[in-house]
Amino acid sequence: MSNVVRSFADALALALPTAPTPTNPANDNVRRRLEDFRSALTTVDHTVTPAVDPGSLPAEAQAWLQSAIDGAQGTPGIVTAARNAATAGSWYQIYESGPASGHSGPEPHEVLTGGMFAAQMIGFRGLVTSDTLLAGLFLLGPGLHYPLHQHPATEIYFGVSGEICIQHGLDGEPQALGPGDVSLTPSNRLHALTVGTSPVLLLYCWLGELGGRQWWWRQDSDGHWYRDAYERTARASWERTASEAVPADVLARH
Ligand SMILES: [Fe+2]
Repeated sequence: MSNVVRSFADALALALPTAPTPTNPANDNVRRRLEDFRSALTTVDHTVTPAVDPGSLPAEAQAWLQSAIDGAQGTPGIVTAARNAATAGSWYQIYESGPASGHSGPEPHEVLTGGMFAAQMIGFRGLVTSDTLLAGLFLLGPGLHYPLHQHPATEIYFGVSGEICIQHGLDGEPQALGPGDVSLTPSNRLHALTVGTSPVLLLYCWLGELGGRQWWWRQDSDGHWYRDAYERTARASWERTASEAVPADVLARH
């Protein structure tokens, strides 16, 4: 099992230095930050291999995954690593239901719970344990919109299959990320994802503060911004724990 993770980490580390970065604003200093990820991927301790819950995907998501794997593009190393990771990984649903927010309108996570899945290669519930780096596969269903959210960790997405638009910042223009491209999200930056008509398969990594609150933002019909906090459960998925109006000083920073 560790060989699957090693090949995954090596293939991604090899791709990062030259991968195009079409979704990032020009002043993000992406190349320097990607070096931190490349370095972390090449120094993972592969000797720690816990027993992992095998996990499973619902039938619809299994079909998305098969379609995405069939349509995977990139170097032979990336495509093989993604295919092997998809088979070996412990798939789980990323968001779980929490208590009602009390705000009007649909609860955002209700749309997303059945549309986003992850298989961690490295991390709390990875095939290789790490508490400093998370890395794995991220599967998103066709047409899914993952609303503006922010988290303390620095994140990268590397495209393997399908096309996804990524928005940085409250008023940023969404930019397309395709196979072979990489996107870097700095700590606590607002970002949103929108999937096209095909399922999307990404490789993801998190570095930095891996815990803490992840905030989802939403705007009511009067233009007021609210945000819901999600916190990681023991199974690595996320559950909502708080809701509030976005504080004025926070809004001013975005
Ligand atoms: Fe994110």
